[in-house]
Amino acid sequence: MARKKIVAGNWKMNMTPSQAVALCAQLKDLVVNPDVDVVYCVPAIDIVPVIEAVKGTNVQVGAENMYFEEKGAYTGEISAEMLVDAGVKYVIIGHSERRDYFKEDDALLNKKVKKAISAGLTPILCCGESLEQREMGVTMDWIRFQIKSDLVGVTADQVKDIVIAYEPIWAIGTGKTATTEQAEEVCKGIRECICEMYDEATAAAVRIQYGGSVNAGNAAELFAQPDIDGGLVGGASLKADFGKIVCY
Ligand code: 13P
Repeated sequence: MARKKIVAGNWKMNMTPSQAVALCAQLKDLVVNPDVDVVYCVPAIDIVPVIEAVKGTNVQVGAENMYFEEKGAYTGEISAEMLVDAGVKYVIIGHSERRDYFKEDDALLNKKVKKAISAGLTPILCCGESLEQREMGVTMDWIRFQIKSDLVGVTADQVKDIVIAYEPIWAIGTGKTATTEQAEEVCKGIRECICEMYDEATAAAVRIQYGGSVNAGNAAELFAQPDIDGGLVGGASLKADFGKIVCY
């Protein structure tokens, strides 16, 4: 069965609630493509107004992070249950900015992935190498380590429904996109890793996005690759160009 493409915007720490609602209105008619699942992953404070703003459209809403505990004394955190109750469908887990600036490690991310799945959220699990790792030739070893650690205890049936985003750190926000060949090579490697960990059917079902300086000019070529099932888009998701990426 062919995998449906999924294009998600990662708004990062951009858009006040009122700006968020205005952006949803601006993008509304531009992001309609029945062949693509469209997701806006937005800052926590924008979740409620954005869900309201996209009601009746093809857009689903995602969070950019969550905590793995159910509730309690975790000041500043947001639980999976809160997200589900608000109407959130996806959650980005393990973005390189969270791994780097907020020191989230793979043991923590594994807990978050399992919690998201059990609560009924679809994780968009991020992985990716630094420029130094790429130059040392350890890209695939590193990515395999991340995927294997983050999916400990996750069953084949659960993995089928998650989304994995390959985001080379050196390509994020730099305007320096990975070449189509580099992006496909790693996404294919991730699929092979899933096949080894689980089985062929699981590997064939899991959706793998590329992220890192995706724009209106390079999306079509990237998304045409056999193992790239869409994109996780930062900067270009905050403007009308996102429509061109969704309708690549
Ligand atoms: P840019 O598209 O701005 O490079 O960001 C990519 C990213 O980090 C998406 O999660």
